Formats: sequence, structure tokens, C-alpha cells
Amino acid sequence: MMKGSEIRETFLRFFESRGHKVIPSSSLVPEDPSVLLTTAGMQQFKKYYTGELDSIKDFGTKNTTSVQKSFRTSDIDEVGDESHLTFFEMLGNFSFGGYFKKEAIEYAYQFITQELGLKISYVTIFGGSDNAGVPKDEESKHIWRSLGIKDIREEGMESVFWGPTGTSGPCGPTTEIYCKNRDGKDIEVWNIVFNEFFYKGSREELLSGNSDKRLENLEVPGVDTGMGLERLTMATQGVSTIFETDLFRSLMDLLPRNMDMRTKRIITDHARGIAFLLSDGVRPSNKEAGYVARKLMRRVIAYNVLCEDAFDPLELLKKVCDLYASFYHELSYEAVSREMKTESERFKNTLDQGFKELGKFKIVNAQSAFKLYESFGLPYEIIKEVGGEKTTDLKRKAFDEEFRKHQEISRAGTEKKFGGHGLILDTGELKAGSEEEKKKVTRLHTATHLLQAGLREVLGSEVEQRGSDITPERTRFDFSFGRKLTPEEKQKVQDFINDIIKKDLPVHCKEMSKEDARKTGALFFFKEKYPEKVNVYYIGKDLDTAVSKEFCGGPHVTRTGEIGHVTISKEEAVGAGIRRIRAKIDL
Ligand code: SER
Repeated sequence: MMKGSEIRETFLRFFESRGHKVIPSSSLVPEDPSVLLTTAGMQQFKKYYTGELDSIKDFGTKNTTSVQKSFRTSDIDEVGDESHLTFFEMLGNFSFGGYFKKEAIEYAYQFITQELGLKISYVTIFGGSDNAGVPKDEESKHIWRSLGIKDIREEGMESVFWGPTGTSGPCGPTTEIYCKNRDGKDIEVWNIVFNEFFYKGSREELLSGNSDKRLENLEVPGVDTGMGLERLTMATQGVSTIFETDLFRSLMDLLPRNMDMRTKRIITDHARGIAFLLSDGVRPSNKEAGYVARKLMRRVIAYNVLCEDAFDPLELLKKVCDLYASFYHELSYEAVSREMKTESERFKNTLDQGFKELGKFKIVNAQSAFKLYESFGLPYEIIKEVGGEKTTDLKRKAFDEEFRKHQEISRAGTEKKFGGHGLILDTGELKAGSEEEKKKVTRLHTATHLLQAGLREVLGSEVEQRGSDITPERTRFDFSFGRKLTPEEKQKVQDFINDIIKKDLPVHCKEMSKEDARKTGALFFFKEKYPEKVNVYYIGKDLDTAVSKEFCGGPHVTRTGEIGHVTISKEEAVGAGIRRIRAKIDL
């Protein structure tokens, strides 16, 4: 029987011998700021699809192959069932104008049926979408037929149209291969994407069908395939779930025999996620990737406390490092164990308090569960488990709803006290420690909206926000743009801003449904999901003639005249295609 590690090697050699260059996995922390963590093998190759980079120059060929470390935060809460994982390895072959549908499908067919000896249960192809204006993928259908595949199912945008990832990118129709596991259940093992288009917007906008952004044809169509190693190993080893493959068995063996299966799956999944995230430099925190790492770490720590030390988290992490170190040299048990120990010490105190607090409740509803989570870091599952009958009526959905509400509140810029620090405003974007400072960041905040409007006016609408950070001293704004600004351009942007300040235009805020807001053309910075109701801040008499419209939580000045004179102080690159600009106001 082939081991998981052998499947990995067989895959790379198969494509290497067919003219593909083997490329190492990129980090789980992507260079592309529009995504939080690496979720697919194609991510490190995005610029080869768009033509911004040349693969012949960089790799000596148009075709590459890789095994990519991937992490999907969207699946975190599903982990524990038979098939979901946060961290997984993705096998992929890629072509940037080298070959297209025929070869891609034939390679996949050969690899699955001949190299691995698996039977294809059925395949899917894209059935077309009027909404997005993409025709049915007849070509793929013909190719599968010519290979003798009879069961070819047509599906829609939701399931067989890939991308774009992040705020914009390549995308296109896909064809998927399904095989059976031991119980006869169909498992999707391979997703083959034909990148034919580029979309200057998010996937959500594309699927909504009511954005005026259009799919553009990519000059050179490309191939992007992804196959989860764990699922493929399950099919190849003839077992029922990924947790029974050799990739998980030695981890599962470190857990107590009588532990329930769901908990075992969560712990083994998280142990892998923790080891890989920390080894790629992520550190537990309350933000972004750090938040994800902390969530995994705290869940494992809480289970450990709950099981009265019946397993050793460090032993699990050591095993992960041992299992994978020969392929992923960056794995460092030293760093992983050090961080895990520190986080345990930090968390165990609050955890004990949390358990005590939980003990005081007669009934735990969604609000109290969220409070326990917020104040003591008690994860939902732990509350359910420790709370027992008290939590019978507590449902995941209601808990998530509380969580979402809370996120909206903090994003909306509501003042909140940060114990000890005296911060009166911290929205993640704006930071102020006193009323005086709050006034300054508010002026700079409105200036930042004008800055974005000015940049788009002068440089074009490809300018999109990538981040911002506002302190009482300055605003810092990151945006997409391919080159350095000329001194004239900087001057023009600055003049645009000061001109509007001189006009002393009113600043309005209007609450609207997300859909209506989008239709007004208001800009949004798509890093997080927006709630159904959003605030649109616009500058000018009315929405139609406004010089700036943005989805925003505020706060802002009421008239632009309050801002004062704005000076652009610095402009620099912070990554490929991303510029950073700083601006100040006269006090
Ligand atoms: N990008 C596609 C996926 O993640 C194929 O690699 O499924």
C-alpha cells in the first residue's frame, strides 16, 4: 500500500517527467495581502497567469508542479466530522500558456487510473452561466468522453467555477474528478481549473451577478489543478476517512483510546495546523493569522485541561514535526514548543477562571456563552462539553450570531475602553488615546477617504485600498498600483484633496443594505465580510455627485473644512504592486 509520502513523491515525479519544474511550497503566510493565509497551490503563481511575471524566465518552462501547504479558515468549525481539515497539503500542476484542457485532463486521467490504480466514479464539468456570461465547457466534456468516462455531470458557478481569490484575480471553469472511498461514498479528489478570465473584484461580487465589473479574457489561458493529499490518500489506501490514513494514524495513536472521535479529529487537525503556522512565523495574537493560530492552540490546551492531561500537546506537535520535517525543512519543534508553552501558561489562568464562571450559570445561552468566550477565551465546544446539560439549548448558530454582532460593533468604531491602556478608540484602523487624539484621527480619517478618491482620480480606478492605519500624527494608506508615483502625480493628488477641503463640502452617512450600497458605487475594502446593513460615508451634497463614497464605520468630520491642510509626506513600495503613502495635516 502506498504511503501518503510516497503519493506526494509519485505525483511530483509524474509531472516532472512530463516537462514540469518542481517548485517548493510557498509559506502559509502569503505575499499577496488580499488573502489571510495560503489556501491553494495557485496562489504563489498568480502573476504568471496574468502575465505580470514570465515563467520561462523564472523557471525555464511554462509548466510547474508543487505540493503546497494550505490552510482554510472557512472550515475551522467543521473540523471534527469525517472530511474537514484546516491545514492540508495540496498537490498541483500548473501551466501558464503551455498546455490547456486536453493535456490537463489526460494527465489527470493517467495519474489517477494508471499511477494510483484508482477508478474514476464520475467527473463534473461547468454547465454554463447566463448570469456571468460564461458558456458551457463543451471541450472538457468531449475530452472526458474520448477517455471513456460516461458519468459526466454538469454543474454551475457555485461548485465548478474557481476564483477569484481575495479582492481580484484569475478565474475560470473547472472540472472535478470523484473517486469512491471504502464505504462507496464519492469523494472529490481533484479540481482542475481552466483559468481563462480575470475578474477585478471578489468572488462574492462575481457570483452576485449584479456588479458592473466584467470578466476579462486572460491573454494566455492557464491551468491550475489542486488535489488534497489527505483525501487522495484516503481513496488510495482504501479507508473510510482521512483520519484513518497513515498521515493521521500516528497522531491519533497518541490520544487516549476512549476519547471520542470528534475530539480526536479536532486535536490532530489542530496540532498539524499549529505546527505549520508557527513554523511559518505566525505568532498567537488577537488579529488575523495570529488570531487563527491562537484559536487552534487554545482549543487544544482547553481539551488537554478538560481531559486531565490524558494526552500531551507537545508530544503531538513533536510528532507532526518528525513526520513532515524531511519534506518541509522549515518545521521547527523548538519554536513550536516554545510558543505552545508560553500560550499554555498565558491561557491556563483565564481558563480556570472561565470554568469557575461557567460553574455559576444555571443555564448557558448564546449571550452568556459569548461572554465566557470573550472574557476567558473558552471555546464554544469546551463550553458545550463542560457545561453539559446547562447548554442543551445553546446552538452554534446563535453563538456565531453573537460573535458576528460583536465584530460589527467593534468595526463600527464604537468607543471602547481598553483596560489599563486608556485607548478610547481602536477600530483596527484608527487609534486614539484621548479625546484630543480622537479629534485628530477623525480629521485624518476623512482625509484618508479624500486621499483614496484623489489617487483614483489621478491614477485611475485600478487604485484600490489594501490597508490603512491612522494615528494622531499621520495617516498611512496602502493601495494597489504598479509603480512609483511621479512628483507631479503626488502634487495633483494633494491638490485634489486640498481643493475639496477648501470647498468645505458636507460629509454624510447613510445606512443601506449591502446590495444598495454596492449599487451606489461606494468603495469597499474587501478583507472582511460586511454585515447586511452597512454605512456609506459620502462627501458632497448628494450620493450621485459625491466626490467620495465608501463603506465605513466612521467616525468622520461633518464638513471637509474641518480637516485643515493636507500634505503627502512619503510614498514607497511595500510589496509587489502595492504602494504605501503617508499624509499629515497641519495642526
Ligand atoms: N485553485 C484550485 C483549488 O484550490 C485548484 O488548485 O481547488
